Amino acid sequence: MARRALITGITGQDGSYLAEHLLEQGYEVWGLARGQANPRVSRMRRLLSDVRVVRGDLLDQGSLISAVERVQPDEVYNLGAISFVPMSWEQAELTAEVTGMGVLRMLEAIRVCSGVSRGGSSGPDGQIRFYQASSSEMFGQVSETPQTERTAFHPRSPYGVAKAYGHFLTQNYRESYGMFAVSGILFNHESPRRGAEFVTRKVSLGVARIKLGLATELRLGNLEARRDWGFAGDYVKAMHLMLRAAAPEDYVIGTGRMKSVRELVEAAFSAVGLDWERYVVTDQTLHRPAEVDLLCADPKKARVQLGWEPRVSFDELVAMMVESDLRLLADGADPHDDSWP
Ligand code: NAP
Ligand code: GDD
Repeated sequence: MARRALITGITGQDGSYLAEHLLEQGYEVWGLARGQANPRVSRMRRLLSDVRVVRGDLLDQGSLISAVERVQPDEVYNLGAISFVPMSWEQAELTAEVTGMGVLRMLEAIRVCSGVSRGGSSGPDGQIRFYQASSSEMFGQVSETPQTERTAFHPRSPYGVAKAYGHFLTQNYRESYGMFAVSGILFNHESPRRGAEFVTRKVSLGVARIKLGLATELRLGNLEARRDWGFAGDYVKAMHLMLRAAAPEDYVIGTGRMKSVRELVEAAFSAVGLDWERYVVTDQTLHRPAEVDLLCADPKKARVQLGWEPRVSFDELVAMMVESDLRLLADGADPHDDSWP
């Protein structure tokens, strides 16, 4: 019988790539979607018609229990979150509820539905395996570079704090109840399906608009921040490998290479033969109350234990995103929305 996966955050970037990957592996894939008329569900269905949808919300414990009871999953991937860091200062309580407490609610739904009690569960094979989408934002003001599974956390945003709570809670449910519950500490990963609010997609859409004569400038915040950027399609494979591993462990996932926002901008404009300095305007209002200056992964454990490696390079990723947005806008998509190719 096909393995069954339940994915929260199915309408997001990672949910779509993970669903595609699991469908290719022969899984029956269910996505948890919230709201009575969520337009992002239709967008997801257009791309992934084989995904089955179950209604639920990370703010609503009963809905998660019902979803787990209905789907009877072998694997649960908790990707749902308020994931945009600046929003976490504006709506700190909501971020704590969805990104932090949502993890508790999902773990409780699994625990209650599988009848797991303290001191261990019925054994590895009957268990629902749980993946938590942890984040390199937990490292925040980094104590060492590159960051490993053992690097201390010093989150710099309400989002990072909420993720740290979810991370420790996942570890705690593994230790308290013997659950197969793991966290992937993923560094920034991007794609043509990235939300338009994140810097890589903002840049690729901005470059495409300028190239097509739809805009004359691109306003950005801190150009000196450095990130370890990879391709989302590569990273979802690591999530799956973590849940198929022999033992439940946490892993850092990234490329091990850092680039600045300035280098991102240079690469994106040069992909269409333009000089970025003629178009980019820096805007103080886009700077953050507390910045994470540099994030860089040491993904050695994932390489050695899971055999996972990123395939798409930074330059390939930037070119892929710019080309995709050029096509999207040339086909008449609304330049302000975040349509998927
Ligand atoms: P994304 O595109 O922003 O997607 C977030 C998802 O969360 C959406 O499907 C959204 O659904 C869902 N969601 C929001 N509030 C919810 C609620 N109350 N109940 C249920 N679902 C809710 O994020 P992503 O880039 O795919 O990232 C996936 C996960 O990985 C997130 O947890 C993120 O924090 C984490 N992460 C991402 C990165 C990265 O670089 N992409 C790195 C590290 C960790 P709606 O359509 O209903 O809003
Ligand atoms: N969004 C945005 N917009 N970021 C900008 C801009 C701008 O105009 N100008 C400069 N930046 C800088 C930000 O200050 C930050 O240092 C960097 O670009 C990356 O910002 P985002 O793309 O918004 O991503 P993030 O690093 O804050 O968060 C993403 O990665 C995390 C993993 O480290 C999100 O996907 C999080 O959900 C994820 O956990």
